[in-house]
Amino acid sequence: MTTHTDVPVLAIDGPSGAGKGTIARAVAGALGWHLLDSGAIYRALGYAAGLRELDVADVGAVARCAMDLRLEFRDPGDGGDTRVIIDGVDATDALRTETAGAAASAIAALPEVRKALLDKQLAFRQAPGLVADGRDMGTVVFPDARTKVFLTASPAERAERRYKQLKAKGLDVTLASLLHEIELRDARDASRSVAPLRPAADAVVIDSTGQPVAAVVDSVLALVRKD
Ligand code: DC
Repeated sequence: MTTHTDVPVLAIDGPSGAGKGTIARAVAGALGWHLLDSGAIYRALGYAAGLRELDVADVGAVARCAMDLRLEFRDPGDGGDTRVIIDGVDATDALRTETAGAAASAIAALPEVRKALLDKQLAFRQAPGLVADGRDMGTVVFPDARTKVFLTASPAERAERRYKQLKAKGLDVTLASLLHEIELRDARDASRSVAPLRPAADAVVIDSTGQPVAAVVDSVLALVRKD
C-alpha cells in the first residue's frame, strides 16, 4: 500500500461527545481536505460482527471480519451526513445508536482488531490533506501528524449534546442514562491496554465546554495555519 507521508494530517482526538465530528467536518470543509471518521469504522465493524452473529469474545473471527469488511463512505451530495455503506447496505442510521457505540467500544479494546483496521485508516491520507477524527489518531495511527488537537468537554455537556442529537432524531433516551453511558465508555476507552484514550504529548488540548462551534473551528484552523 502506498502511504503518503508528505500529506499533512490534522489529528483530532478526544472522548465521545466532545464535538470532534462536527469540528472535524467543518475544518475539513474549510481547508478542502479529506475526512476520516475512524469511530465510524469501529462502529461499522461492531455492527457487521453483530449481523454475522459473531461472538465478540472470538477475537480471531472479529479480526477476520475486520480484514474483509467492505466499507464505503459516500457523500450524499446534498450537504447531509456522509453515508456509511457496509457490504453494499446503507447502515448510517443504525451506526449512530448507543448500542452500536457500545459494541464499537468493546471490539476497539482488542489489539488484533486495531491492527486489522490500521491500513483502512492509513489509506485516507491523500492530498491535499487529511482531518482524522478519533481516539488514537495523533498517538498511534498518524504519530507524524503535523497538527494534533485533543478536544474535550465536561461529561455533563457531552451528555447534553448527545441528548439533543438523539432526541432530534426521535430516539427515546434520558439524559441520566446518557451521562452514565458516557462515563462508562470514557472509563473503558481510557483504561484499555492498547491505544488508550489520552492526548499525544505534542497535542494542543482544547476544552469546548460552553464554546460555540464557530469559536472552536477558528481555534483549530489557526493551529493548522500556524503549523
Ligand atoms: O467516536 P465514536 O463514538 O464514533 O467511536 C465509537 C467507539 O469506537 C468509541 O467508544 C471508541 C472506539 N474508537 C477507538 O477506539 N478508536 C478510534 N480511533 C475511534 C473510535
